[in-house]
Amino acid sequence: MKYFVVTYGCQMNVHESEKIAGILEKMGYECGQSREEADIIVFNTCAIREGAEDRVLGNVGALKKQKKRNKNLIIVVCGCMTQKEITAKKLMSTFPFVDIVIGTFNISSLPDLINNVKNGRKLELWEEGGIDETLPYKRTSGENAWVNIMQGCNNFCTYCIVPYVRGREKSRSEEAILREIEEIVREGKYKKITLLGQNVNSYGKDLMPQVSFAKLLKDIAAIQGDFEVGFMTSHPKDLTDELIDVIASEPKIERNIHLPAQSGDNRILKLMNRRYTREHYLDIIRKIRNKIPKVRITSDFIVGFPTETEEEFLRTLELVREVRYDSIFAFMYSPREGTVASKMEGQISDEVKHDRVNRLLKLEKQIQKEDNKS
Ligand code: 5AD
Ligand code: SF4
Repeated sequence: MKYFVVTYGCQMNVHESEKIAGILEKMGYECGQSREEADIIVFNTCAIREGAEDRVLGNVGALKKQKKRNKNLIIVVCGCMTQKEITAKKLMSTFPFVDIVIGTFNISSLPDLINNVKNGRKLELWEEGGIDETLPYKRTSGENAWVNIMQGCNNFCTYCIVPYVRGREKSRSEEAILREIEEIVREGKYKKITLLGQNVNSYGKDLMPQVSFAKLLKDIAAIQGDFEVGFMTSHPKDLTDELIDVIASEPKIERNIHLPAQSGDNRILKLMNRRYTREHYLDIIRKIRNKIPKVRITSDFIVGFPTETEEEFLRTLELVREVRYDSIFAFMYSPREGTVASKMEGQISDEVKHDRVNRLLKLEKQIQKEDNKS
């Protein structure tokens, strides 16, 4: 019996697919090379933008024929998209040949659900739950080992669906993280360890007693062995001086900081509920560059947020020009049902969004060209 996992979205999902693969292998399934030869296909989905959801729908729809040919094929759709109850229901009614629809909290129930399907029951599940420390992983990212340090997000940036589909921040205990990393280092196969969380800088605030992300990093760097540790994603409002100092002083910590700015304009940042200003952001960048030589700084930007004017967009371009990032991701704002921004007046046309995203990417290319030359 073979399985095939199709992953959409961020590194968190890539890592969760490693968990899904681990569970399926524990059940006796082997990794298949393609969808066509699989007995069970799992779509681990993303809901961050409409485009991500459309791709999932197209690919799930395309399985109708395969399911007709092979009645025993089990199709599972899980992840952020199906954590939204409305989407899960819609998916079940549009594609009745899908067997299991579950959210982000129920991966550990997969074995039971698969057995139920074999006994003729269809399932939907999207209740919120905790972090299961006992699940096996099948690491699939070569020399890089992902380590999840926390789930969820408390920030509620007004454009973002993540807090709704991943729940509130829940940190894993420092002890469990250190144990996992020691085990990874002992295995000797991994040169790099990447810590994952939606907002790693607020790691440990929900633990008793509290543990700071800087302390966690320091304790990880103290583990004996030849490895490098990186992390993503950082939120500017929570990035502390203590953290900058730890990165500067520990050679094992990667000199790579992904620090999404999202916009260079204070009115838009406020509407986005980012809780920092352009000036504060630039201050942090200055501190990082002063203390950590040769640091690589990268960022995400959203263009065409509701009511964004041409002048406000120009301030984003100015910020990019000022910081001279090593690379950036630029996204066109995509309204997500249920978020505050999706209900705002002054939504921007696709034409304007396309134009702005192209200009932002063109600027990035130009900066990279200049930096490469120098
Ligand atoms: N529309 C466009 N981009 C978004 N992002 C998050 N939500 C949206 C949305 N609704 C972007 C942000 C974030 C990255 C992972 O995705 O820039 O940092
Ligand atoms: Fe979304 Fe903001 Fe949380 Fe990042 S910090 S996951 S953008 S709500």
